[in-house]
Amino acid sequence: MTPVLEISNLHHYFEKGTVNENHVLKGINLTMNPGEFITIIGGNGAGKSTLLNSIAGTLSTEIGKVMLNGKDVTKRSVMKRSSQVSRVFQDPKMGTAVRLTVEENLALALKRGQNRGFSAGVKNKNRAFFKEQLATLNLGLENRLGTEIGLLSGGQRQAITLLMATLQRPELILLDEHTAALDPKTSLTVMSLTEKLIHEQQLTAFMVTHDMEDAIRYGNRLIMLHQGQIVVDLPQSQKQDLTVAELMDLFHKNSGTELKDDQLLLA
Ligand SMILES: Nc1ncnc2c1ncn2[C@@H]1O[C@H](COP(=O)(O)OP(=O)(O)OP(=O)(O)O)[C@@H](O)[C@H]1O
Ligand SMILES: [Mg+2]
Repeated sequence: MTPVLEISNLHHYFEKGTVNENHVLKGINLTMNPGEFITIIGGNGAGKSTLLNSIAGTLSTEIGKVMLNGKDVTKRSVMKRSSQVSRVFQDPKMGTAVRLTVEENLALALKRGQNRGFSAGVKNKNRAFFKEQLATLNLGLENRLGTEIGLLSGGQRQAITLLMATLQRPELILLDEHTAALDPKTSLTVMSLTEKLIHEQQLTAFMVTHDMEDAIRYGNRLIMLHQGQIVVDLPQSQKQDLTVAELMDLFHKNSGTELKDDQLLLA
């Protein structure tokens, strides 16, 4: 079985060679097999977003290797990787084009990974498909095809961004605290939708969260990052009955750092 993702000896520095040099990722090794849904947790500044950015290609890699489905993509641009990797960010404004309508955004998503120019034209046959897809969200958005995305709520936009990220099945989906900016109820709706899409399309997913309970509840593998290193990596068999207290204890043992209980829970 070819792994979906293989990261070897990945280091990342910001402002290398200056007095502000920050060695953020310190030799990450990680293999993800098809169907794995990893939740990743770690304190502020641990390097979670940097890791996701290195996988997506928004940050270039000088030391180490990133492979996607057996292909070395270390030197590939974000654009080239986007046919394989899709992303949803914390900020609902990041994933969509605000001034375009819902259907125009979805039309762009259908062209992910292609050189799409700036034509967001919507064909009639696609319109029916978009309507059908939006209806599955159960948010009434199938009647808002012509609404500018910028006029929708954060939760509605995150739901559409998720749909856009999965409209063409990605080989890997990266979720960077994609529910953190939402109120608890909306966050739960978007999380349920996330689970449903991952399950239905049997996606391989990597989700950053600050909520230890969510990290335990969702996914089938749990990773903890601390100061740029993976200090905990648990398969489903070990994570399913885990409590937050046990997780904190594991972190303490493996990182040598005492964890204040709100340190990871708060965004
Ligand atoms: N573009 C950048 N330029 C310089 N330093 C950066 C940049 N992006 C991140 N950093 C630094 O790298 C470190 C890791 O940041 P990163 O965003 O990966 O952390 P994180 O684990 O995602 O944290 P959070 O939970 O707060 O989102 C931090 O010290 C941060 O200040
Ligand atoms: Mg982050």
